[in-house]
Amino acid sequence: MVRSCSIGVLDSGLGGVSVLKSLVKLMPNEDIIYVGDTKNIPYGGRTKEEIRKFALRIVEFLILNKCKMIVVACNTASIAALDYLKGHCNIPIVGIIDAGVEIVLDGGYKEVSVLCTPFTAKSGDHKRKINNKNKKIKVNVIGCELLCPMIEKGWETIENRDDILDEYMSHVSKTSEALLLACTHYPFIKEEIRKKFSGEIIVPSDECVREVYRTLRENSLLNENKKKGNVEFYVTGDVNSFKDKAEKFLKQKNLEVYKVNLTDIKK
Ligand code: DGL
Repeated sequence: MVRSCSIGVLDSGLGGVSVLKSLVKLMPNEDIIYVGDTKNIPYGGRTKEEIRKFALRIVEFLILNKCKMIVVACNTASIAALDYLKGHCNIPIVGIIDAGVEIVLDGGYKEVSVLCTPFTAKSGDHKRKINNKNKKIKVNVIGCELLCPMIEKGWETIENRDDILDEYMSHVSKTSEALLLACTHYPFIKEEIRKKFSGEIIVPSDECVREVYRTLRENSLLNENKKKGNVEFYVTGDVNSFKDKAEKFLKQKNLEVYKVNLTDIKK
């Protein structure tokens, strides 16, 4: 593998664009291939086996496209499939869960809440990982079934969005000092969430990207080229719907977005 190869980013859909934004900010000279599995979203209501199957197809596509490392940006996929994927590829691969856990541990909080998908909530991973290191931190986890599909569909187009968000936020304990956004889609509505929570809002993407940087450096894979990197997006569902929302979030026009049928990939 050579330094000039791309970094692969995997998400169930649009959400990982929030991680990609951090990636481009920290390593603007890296080429990136992003895959959003918009045909199979939401992962949050699926089984571990389904998520592993979908994630492995994406990883195979990224390897076929000569990626030098892979970022599993999706929290749900990181929990369901990170170790499984590591067993299926021989390039470095990082997930996003530990980044959020580290920020909570370093923050000195007594109580935190975690907003995430139902799969992530059921896994109990955040609570377990935080309490393994510090038993004293109280961790409340709230699984939000509707938020990811609403953001994918277009948040502003959903009439009762405020009521739905209110309902989820009503489960955030009043004594929480911080709220971890443990789904890559939620930074898209961070300002809406901020109106309903006065404590610290934690978005783990910058920390995850620092781990990507350390991993590339340790493996002598950082791109030494100084010119601006190229970013290509591939989605398994509708191209235009993804493109519009990603461009709005990134405040950038003319993103290169292509449709890919991952079931058609031949080795
Ligand atoms: N955005 C993903 C996450 O970080 C999952 C959303 C979904 O597909 O349900 O968990």
